[in-house]
Amino acid sequence: MNDAIPKHERLLQGLFRDYEARYPTSKSAHERAKKVLIDGVSHGARLFKPYPFRVIAAQGAHVTDIDGHRIVDFWQGHYANILGHNPAIIREVLVRELEHGFGLQTGLPEERQSEFAQALAQAAGAERVRLTTAGTLATMYAIMLARAFTKRHLVLKVAGGWHGASPLALKGVGRRADGYDHVDSAGVPATTEEEILVVRFNDVEALKHIFARYGERIACFIFEPCVGAAGFLPASGDFMRTARELTRQYGALLILDEVITGFRFCAGGVQKLYGVQADLTTFGKIIGGGMPLSAVAGRADVMELVSESATPRVWFNGGTFSAHPLALLAGQAMIEHLIAHEAEIYPALAAKGQRLREGVEAVFKARGVLARCTGHGNDALQGGSLATIYFPRDETLQPTSAEDLQDPALCDVILREQVLKVGLLLHDVNVAHGLGALSASHDDEDLAQVFQACDAFATRLLAGK
Ligand SMILES: Cc1ncc(COP(=O)(O)O)c(C=O)c1O
Repeated sequence: MNDAIPKHERLLQGLFRDYEARYPTSKSAHERAKKVLIDGVSHGARLFKPYPFRVIAAQGAHVTDIDGHRIVDFWQGHYANILGHNPAIIREVLVRELEHGFGLQTGLPEERQSEFAQALAQAAGAERVRLTTAGTLATMYAIMLARAFTKRHLVLKVAGGWHGASPLALKGVGRRADGYDHVDSAGVPATTEEEILVVRFNDVEALKHIFARYGERIACFIFEPCVGAAGFLPASGDFMRTARELTRQYGALLILDEVITGFRFCAGGVQKLYGVQADLTTFGKIIGGGMPLSAVAGRADVMELVSESATPRVWFNGGTFSAHPLALLAGQAMIEHLIAHEAEIYPALAAKGQRLREGVEAVFKARGVLARCTGHGNDALQGGSLATIYFPRDETLQPTSAEDLQDPALCDVILREQVLKVGLLLHDVNVAHGLGALSASHDDEDLAQVFQACDAFATRLLAGK
C-alpha cells in the first residue's frame, strides 16, 4: 500500500513554488497569453498547473524552453513524433520542396496523394483511403460512414476512449461520479446522449451483453486497440476477437481507431499484430510526419459511399486543407521511412520501452513507493514505446480498463496527473498523463535522466513538501 505517501497539497505547493522559480519567463508569457487565449493555450491537453512552459526549439528527444532548459520530452507532439522532434528526413524534404516553389498550393490533385494512399492502404490491409486533416475528423467521418452503410444510429465505444471532440463520440471519455455514463461536452446535439453506448474496455462479457441487447441497432463499435487517454492499455486478444465476431454477427462495422497506434507498434495498423481486420481504420498523428494529416482506410463497399456518385452520399470532403501538399510530403517521407526500416525501428523502440518501464519501476521500488508502468504488453500485443506511470493503492492491481486507472479508490490519480508532471519538470523531464511516448531519438542518457528525476521525485514525495 502507499500509506507512506502523505497528502499532496503541501507537496504541490512546494513543487509549484520551485517550478515558478525555475520557469519564470514562461510565467509572464502565460499571463500575457491568458488575456487573449482561453486558459492561455490552444488545446486543453497542453494546460497544466501552475502553467505550461513555453517552447522555442525542439530537436529529437528534447525541447528547449524560453528559460533555457533542455527538456527530455515524452509528449512528442501529442505522440505523433515517433522519430523525435524535427527529424532531418522530414525537414530536408520540406525545405527542398518549398524552395522549388511547391508546398502551399493546397487544393489540387497531385500524384503524391495516390502514392501515399497506396502505401497506407497496403500497410493497413485496406482497399480504399480518403485523407483529411485531424484524427477527430477521421473518426467522425468513419462513424458517419458506418451509420450510412448500416442505416443504423447507435455508436458503441469504450469507457475512457477518446476519438476527438466530435459529438459522434463525445460520451464516456472522462470519469465522473457517475462513472462514464455521461456526455462529456456541452453544446452537442441532444441525440448524443442516447445514440452513444459505452462499454467497459476488455470486458468480454459486458460486450456480449450489450450486443445481445442492442446489436440489431448498433451501426459500429469504435475503439482503440491500445486505449491512449486511459493510460495505454492494450486490448486483450479475446476482447479484440470478440469485437470482430460480434460486429460481424450483428451486421455492425468494426472501426479501429489507430490514430495513436497506427505506425506506433509496427509499420501499419497494430490490428495486423492482433490478426484482425477492421472494416474501417482511422489514422492520424504519426502518418503526418509532424504535419496535420489523417485518414480513413477501409472496405471499398463502405468507402464508396463517399463518392460523388453515391446515393445517399456521405459528405466526407476532408476540408480545405485535406491532403495539404506539405503534410503529404512529410507524411510520405515518414511512412516510407517506417516501412523501409520496420525491422530495426520497432524492436529497438520496444526494447527501449522495456528498459524505461523496468527502470522507472525499480527506482520507485528502491525508495519504497508503489509505482508501476503500463505498456508492458499482454497476451496479444508486446510492450512498445508507450507507457504511463501509475500509483496503485494496492499492489495486486492489474489495470485493463479506464475504470482501473482513473478511479481514485484504485490509483492515486492526482499524483499521476498533476504532482508527477511538475515534479519531473523540476528535473527537465516532460511527461504527459503519467509518461507518454518514446521516440527513436531518445537514448540511454535520456532514460538515465528520467530515472534520476523519478528518484528525486520519490524522495520528495516521501518528504511530502
Ligand atoms: C485515439 C485518438 N483518436 C482520435 C484523436 C483525435 O485526433 P486529433 O487530435 O488529431 O483530432 C486522438 C487525439 O489524441 C486520439 O488519441
